[in-house]
Amino acid sequence: MAQVLAICGSLRKGSFNRMLMQASMKLAPGGTTIKEAPSFAALPLYDFDKQSVGFPPEADALNAAVDAADGVLIVSPEYNWSVPGGLKNAIDWLSRYKQESFKHKPVCIQSAAVGLLGGARMQYHLRMVLQAMEAEVFGRPEVIVTMAASKFADGALKDQLTIDLVRQQLAAFVDFIERRRR
Ligand SMILES: Cc1cc2nc3c(=O)[nH]c(=O)nc-3n(C[C@H](O)[C@H](O)[C@H](O)COP(=O)(O)O)c2cc1C
Repeated sequence: MAQVLAICGSLRKGSFNRMLMQASMKLAPGGTTIKEAPSFAALPLYDFDKQSVGFPPEADALNAAVDAADGVLIVSPEYNWSVPGGLKNAIDWLSRYKQESFKHKPVCIQSAAVGLLGGARMQYHLRMVLQAMEAEVFGRPEVIVTMAASKFADGALKDQLTIDLVRQQLAAFVDFIERRRR
């Protein structure tokens, strides 16, 4: 049994990445649950002066959810070849807690983008950031959804090859979590 927390890097309503995250929730192996993380949308920009007064409740909620999960699935678009600012800001807040929730936490990454590279550059940058937090970043199979507009319809993931790949990745990620538990 694994409890996975899913963080979507896009805030927009019609987000392909949110649809990919929702598909993952259904494609997780038996005994695994994937639930969406508390939103980071209302987090202020990281500022040490604000931290000194107290962490915002949105950061507390996200940090507690990451801490309680057996693993984290981050599903995000690529903005200007890198990690979207809102997601990076949320990670920066979480990195400031004494008890860092991402430390030794198994993390799996997925991306969807309308371009030919499917958010691959964001994935490599996000790996580096997670490494700084001493997270245990899952390797492969990778889920990189290229030309996303052609793979989703009616609010859901429709591309069979991608569906199969997501299923394989999540099964391998749950094995990765189990190996770290032993
Ligand atoms: C600020 C911004 C920067 C973007 N930069 C990239 C990029 O570097 N590479 C890419 O493939 N797509 C880029 N895009 C296009 C996104 O792939 C596209 O908007 C995608 O639908 C975003 O994911 P979402 O549907 O989950 O919101 C960018 C979009 C925005 C709004």
